Amino acid sequence: MENLRIPAHVAIIMDGNGRWAKKRGLPRKMGHVEGCKVVEQTVEDAARLGIQYLTVYAFSTENWKRSEDEVDALMQLFRYYAKRLLKIANENNVRVKFIGDISRFAPDIIEGIRSLEETSAKNTGLTFCIAVNYGSRDEIRRGMTRMMEDCREGKILPSEVTEETISSYLDTADMPDPDLLIRTSGEERLSNFILWQLAYSEFYFADVLWPDFNKDELVKAIEAYNGRDRRFGNAK
Ligand code: IPE
Ligand code: IPE
Ligand code: MG
Repeated sequence: MENLRIPAHVAIIMDGNGRWAKKRGLPRKMGHVEGCKVVEQTVEDAARLGIQYLTVYAFSTENWKRSEDEVDALMQLFRYYAKRLLKIANENNVRVKFIGDISRFAPDIIEGIRSLEETSAKNTGLTFCIAVNYGSRDEIRRGMTRMMEDCREGKILPSEVTEETISSYLDTADMPDPDLLIRTSGEERLSNFILWQLAYSEFYFADVLWPDFNKDELVKAIEAYNGRDRRFGNAK
């Protein structure tokens, strides 16, 4: 634990809630309930470890295709946690930010998201970024549509578009790229998560299901990251 180099930005694909529930003979939504508790704990652990940005994949653009019952349960959890996170964010000096197309959510959920962002905007500790109705290709599509509109209005010239210009049109515009990506549950794919931003990140796949993730698992991932030979991108 001593002398661990702490990555500035850790991103997590929180996977395995459904399997965790199934193993216990419970409905899938109980896995999400447990998973939310682990999210809360992970925010506190990350803040204490000195991580500056924690980004989690909470709901993908593809997740709408799940059963109505499961999607409804997830929406109820968003409602509940938008309120709980207000308290947790202020107690831990955490700034909360959302990425993804939130316009598809019910008005009260959008309101909860906005008030969480606004209320925590002045906090100066960890930035906790939650990806909801998020898909990387959708984010790039939305960003490029805006960029083309700005081009048409003469605000930027096509010949002046740099990689930084493109980054500035993404939902993550004000954030550094992740240093470390963790995916739980043994799956080893990106499932349409921050493809552009992960260009140089280290990947760590853990077999543990998300509801069983904890501080020891987070430290293990950071230890593995410390053991990697980072020669590319933003290697320090
Ligand atoms: C991740 O767990 C949480 C969400 C996608 C909302 P899953 O629900 O994907 O769990 P598994 O992969 O079916 O076990
Ligand atoms: C990725 O997990 C999305 C989230 C963690 C929110 P999924 O379980 O939805 O991804 P696939 O379907 O296995 O690729
Ligand atoms: Mg899954």
